[in-house]
Amino acid sequence: MNRNLELYNAAYKHMTPDFISSNKLDAHLELTNDAHFRFLSSFCAQFPEINFYGKDILEVGCGAGGLIKYFNDKNALYTGFDFSNMAISIARDYQGFRALSGEYVCGNVCSDINLGKTYDFIFDSHLLHCLTGEDRKKYFEFIKKYLASDGRFICESMVFQKGLKLPVGYSYNESSEITKEVNGGDIPIRKLLKFQELENEFKAQGLTIDYLYYHSELSINPFVEYSDYPANYLPHTARLSVRLG
Ligand SMILES: C[S@@+](CC[C@H](N)C(=O)[O-])C[C@H]1O[C@@H](n2cnc3c(N)ncnc32)[C@H](O)[C@@H]1O
Repeated sequence: MNRNLELYNAAYKHMTPDFISSNKLDAHLELTNDAHFRFLSSFCAQFPEINFYGKDILEVGCGAGGLIKYFNDKNALYTGFDFSNMAISIARDYQGFRALSGEYVCGNVCSDINLGKTYDFIFDSHLLHCLTGEDRKKYFEFIKKYLASDGRFICESMVFQKGLKLPVGYSYNESSEITKEVNGGDIPIRKLLKFQELENEFKAQGLTIDYLYYHSELSINPFVEYSDYPANYLPHTARLSVRLG
């Protein structure tokens, strides 16, 4: 099995059926989606013409539920996409438990998959920074294939910052990747570009950026074993909205 998939599945293992019925998943989603809610709120305030009502939304990297509730409340048509079968199974149970509409698809953005339609909005909820090497090119092919010609791709991603410090078991290599030591080997788990490099990567894909924000106050913690890691050592955040060429 893909080593990264193993790591993601392991991260969702503690979410037992009891986790869903005892409202712990609601609390988890509130917490992990907090940055996304704030992003969408300030983004929509800047583009008052944006209305999700009746629109097809694809959330890539949705994990164990993602933004299904947010987009149900907006009367949008929601699809969550993630390659962790564990996360998708929990997300589907949660959807049934909360009687939410939408669907979840288990698949890899780096593989040739047929979703059979395009989407008015694609929202990346922290997936891009999980992709390294050639996978990033495949990711952009996926986004461009499934974004409607007049659609918008909205993405929040970790970026490098000068004060970055890594805990034991992690390294930062010359390819701008954070690697994690697993069974004596180093697995790349995140790609941490500088803000300008990330902007250039989007432009090189022929995408037109209409919203770009470097969020030095918002840090994301990729070090799962170190939940209290000092925020000033963590990667910072970039927020983007783009259209096709
Ligand atoms: C950092 S988590 C983000 C989860 C959630 N959206 C959040 O903000 O807390 C990244 C998610 O992307 C998924 N993922 C990683 N690589 C993927 C790929 N190649 N294709 C689809 N999903 C992937 C993982 O399973 C994981 O659920």
